[in-house]
Amino acid sequence: MKETNGNQSPSFSERINSIAQEPLTPLTKILLVLGLVLLLTSSVFIGLFAGAQHRLGLGHGGEDHKHTATTTATLTTTRTSTILSTSTFISTTTVATSLPIPEPTKSPEETPCLEPRCVILSASILSSLDTSQDPCENFYDFANGGWLKSHPLPADKGSFGTFEALSQENKQIVKDILGSNSSVSPLDDEILSKLRGFYSSCMDESTLDDIGIAPLLHFANTIRKLYKGNDTDITATLETGDIVRGLTAAVAFLHSRGIEGLFSFDVDGDVGVDPNHLVLWFSQPGLGLPSKEYFEEESILDVYRSVLQRLLLTLSEEAEEEVQQLSSSPALVDNEDANVWPPWPWPPWGGDDSDDGDEPVNRTLEAQKLAKKVVEFESRIAQASLDLDVLQQDPIATYNPVPLSNLTQTIIQIHFPTYFSTFTPRSYPDRVVMTYPAYAQSLSDILSTDVVEAYLIARAALTLSPYLSQNTEAWKAQRTLVEALTGIKKGAVGDRAEYCIGQVEENLGFAAGRYFVNKTFGGDSREKGTKVITDIVESFKASLERIDWMDEESAKLAAGKADAIRVKVGFPLSPDTRDPGSITRYYSDVKADKKRFFENVVSSATSQTFKKWLQLGRARDPEAWEMFPSTVNAYFNPPANEIVFPAGILRPPFFSQEWPAYISYGSFGHVAAHELTHAFDSAGRLYNQEGKLEQWWTNSTSEGFKVKQSCIVEQYSSYYIDDGKGLIQAYRAWKARQDLSDNTTEYLLPGLKFTREQLFFISFARIWARAIKPAAAVQRIRTDPHSPNRFRVDGTVSNIPEFAKAFKCSKGAKLNPPNGDRCIFWS
Ligand SMILES: *[C@@H]1O[C@H](CO)[C@@H](O)[C@H](O)[C@H]1NC(C)=O
Ligand SMILES: *[C@@H]1O[C@H](CO)[C@@H](O)[C@H](O)[C@H]1NC(C)=O
Ligand SMILES: *[C@@H]1O[C@H](CO)[C@@H](O)[C@H](O)[C@H]1NC(C)=O
Ligand SMILES: *[C@@H]1O[C@H](CO)[C@@H](O)[C@H](O)[C@H]1NC(C)=O
Ligand SMILES: *[C@@H]1O[C@H](CO)[C@@H](O)[C@H](O)[C@H]1NC(C)=O
Ligand SMILES: *[C@@H]1O[C@H](CO)[C@@H](O)[C@H](O)[C@H]1NC(C)=O
Ligand SMILES: *[C@@H]1O[C@H](CO)[C@@H](O)[C@H](O)[C@H]1NC(C)=O
Repeated sequence: MKETNGNQSPSFSERINSIAQEPLTPLTKILLVLGLVLLLTSSVFIGLFAGAQHRLGLGHGGEDHKHTATTTATLTTTRTSTILSTSTFISTTTVATSLPIPEPTKSPEETPCLEPRCVILSASILSSLDTSQDPCENFYDFANGGWLKSHPLPADKGSFGTFEALSQENKQIVKDILGSNSSVSPLDDEILSKLRGFYSSCMDESTLDDIGIAPLLHFANTIRKLYKGNDTDITATLETGDIVRGLTAAVAFLHSRGIEGLFSFDVDGDVGVDPNHLVLWFSQPGLGLPSKEYFEEESILDVYRSVLQRLLLTLSEEAEEEVQQLSSSPALVDNEDANVWPPWPWPPWGGDDSDDGDEPVNRTLEAQKLAKKVVEFESRIAQASLDLDVLQQDPIATYNPVPLSNLTQTIIQIHFPTYFSTFTPRSYPDRVVMTYPAYAQSLSDILSTDVVEAYLIARAALTLSPYLSQNTEAWKAQRTLVEALTGIKKGAVGDRAEYCIGQVEENLGFAAGRYFVNKTFGGDSREKGTKVITDIVESFKASLERIDWMDEESAKLAAGKADAIRVKVGFPLSPDTRDPGSITRYYSDVKADKKRFFENVVSSATSQTFKKWLQLGRARDPEAWEMFPSTVNAYFNPPANEIVFPAGILRPPFFSQEWPAYISYGSFGHVAAHELTHAFDSAGRLYNQEGKLEQWWTNSTSEGFKVKQSCIVEQYSSYYIDDGKGLIQAYRAWKARQDLSDNTTEYLLPGLKFTREQLFFISFARIWARAIKPAAAVQRIRTDPHSPNRFRVDGTVSNIPEFAKAFKCSKGAKLNPPNGDRCIFWS
């Protein structure tokens, strides 16, 4: 699974909901958190980390980044490295005796590569180090201290590390592509013009200012109108049937725009029967806060309540009327929706106030009361929800197929035939997989009519406010929540262009990916990247015989599963990155009107939802991807038994087709091995070679695995270690090929006084450099199954004897524990 960010399909629901969490899907999921929220991905993948950039879609949230041009970044690095290497020499002279760094072992006549690219690589490695640290005690700081010092955490970001830095560079590449005006072919010109239109709509802040809150008000109004049905008299007692009809229509509308509320549906493999047959999954919805723990924190709840109060107030009926009067420009309101404008009475607290008819309603007070009720209601939803760790890591507990009638008879407040008809599935489902059956009953019990309309509007407001002008009250309110959740400095807004390129990636990522790939992923990149991965798979298979807790039968099956894994590298063939016609068709429903950012984003979400439902009842598309080509991440998808590496991560400092193998196996090789071992981790091991949930290990192997797992759990509690799983595989794969290789792939770099083995480990540690604010760290721990980066590095190497050997660590060193204290899973 990927645990990382990417997740799944680009269902639009996922995209838009980045604010909210995503649904959970079947098994594993992931999530990310960006912006305000995380998303949980749906099930199925596990990436490298949750959070960072998009899975296909997330990103709204308004996390902005400053952009650094690629070239700029390179120059900076070079310059910095000069300075740092100076200090390196100084510290080496003074402190060298305390450091157990061995001298290189190569023969003195072996000359390093002195080409510019080698000098640059050396400089970038040197500048990332802090050689005043002892690698045997604090390897993370040793390998990354220089980088962390020269990359202070920007005020507008909750975290910033190697992944984010590369993501910035990738965005700059996409930006350059949009900025050039070369003409390629008529179809490409059409795609590029869509990309540019979308980008411009985001960049044109003066138009956004003119538009103000109108599109969101209009959206909220549509929800109100649907919820209330035809009945304009809010004091009348609604018949039960009307409530069901209104609620069903409002929820279907919200979901069709990719916004979660009350519950969520996903379309994914039927892992218990046929993982390639796509069926309906029912799950809990994303929340306005990243996970349920937040609903027990009074200080966060205070912020959340006040944010919702501001949103509900700014979207109140009176505000609508005011805006309506101002909005003489027809551009502000979709004519097609004119039938739901003007607004219906709102908010629905009319009963109390209708007595004193002349008294003006205190809108602030009413919004305050309503916000409180919404938060209480959502807290109950959170309590009724399954914990994220179970949702993400327990594929068996979250696979509960039931007849559809079980769902429809449990949540009687929703008329499901009407709901489904909105999404026009090609085959009407008769069965649904529930991630947590108890949730449906709980939801039915807590649904209450006096708050649900405000709740739905709050969901929409939180999700869509980022697409308004930064000068609107709605944008500011939502931003306040992001700041509280990530620790971003108040008022620190990043570079708009970087944010807007991020929006282009999230909404038109396969289109932007076509040009990104053309520019960055040429030559033998695909072959060389794939070779690293297949080497790792071979090395993994070879290691199976050495694993003491796995018996022969299980080892054979494990090797079969490893062989069956589909490796996808670079870019998808569905839509086909190489074919402009395929890309054009894929995005035909996404609008890119230069003056309508909000509507463009909503059209993208709607298109994603539509595509998701279109899959229902079909076979899995083996060429589809859950991440975009420019994404800096990777994932394993258990039901599909595939590992996927976008071109976006096949770039320095992860990979370059020109690098010596000891560098690229430490970085990208480790990433590949990490994803591979997800196929055999506590959740991944439950899927067989076809991606079906099945106990395919023997009982004794399962027992052995559990013993090893408890070792990691124990270590984690004292030490917070990550799975050290991938690194040793990458090391072995490199060693295996090093023996065979000719010298052209193992050449030395200038000015680096380290052995190849040491550089392998340094290359590994470098990709995990990341500075993070405490609030963002808390969020990550609560939503990302991966452990924090420092422990990911130090914990991992402490379990690998080869590391201590490479750095000649003394017996008592922290990262050289006695073998009995190491957890060696995949020796
Ligand atoms: C882009 O193309 C237009 C005409 O097609 C030309 O006038 C303009 O100079 C070009 N801009 C750049 C930066 O090449
Ligand atoms: C609304 O009322 C009109 C006429 O009164 C009726 O034709 C229509 O079906 C109603 N719509 C809904 C959603 O009830
Ligand atoms: C409305 O209620 C708020 C909150 O209780 C209060 O601060 C404000 O003064 C009231 N406004 C009016 C006009 O009564
Ligand atoms: C739905 O299934 C659950 C568990 O399988 C069961 O407890 C519940 O009674 C069923 N509800 C209905 C309405 O069939
Ligand atoms: C790919 O890149 C080449 C060389 O930079 C350029 O000539 C070609 O037009 C590009 N193709 C596309 C589809 O952008
Ligand atoms: C394996 O364990 C399961 C339950 O733990 C048991 O039902 C099954 O019979 C065992 N299989 C063998 C071959 O012992
Ligand atoms: C690689 O280098 C070693 C020693 O440095 C040398 O003995 C060997 O012949 C070289 N191999 C090739 C293929 O150049």
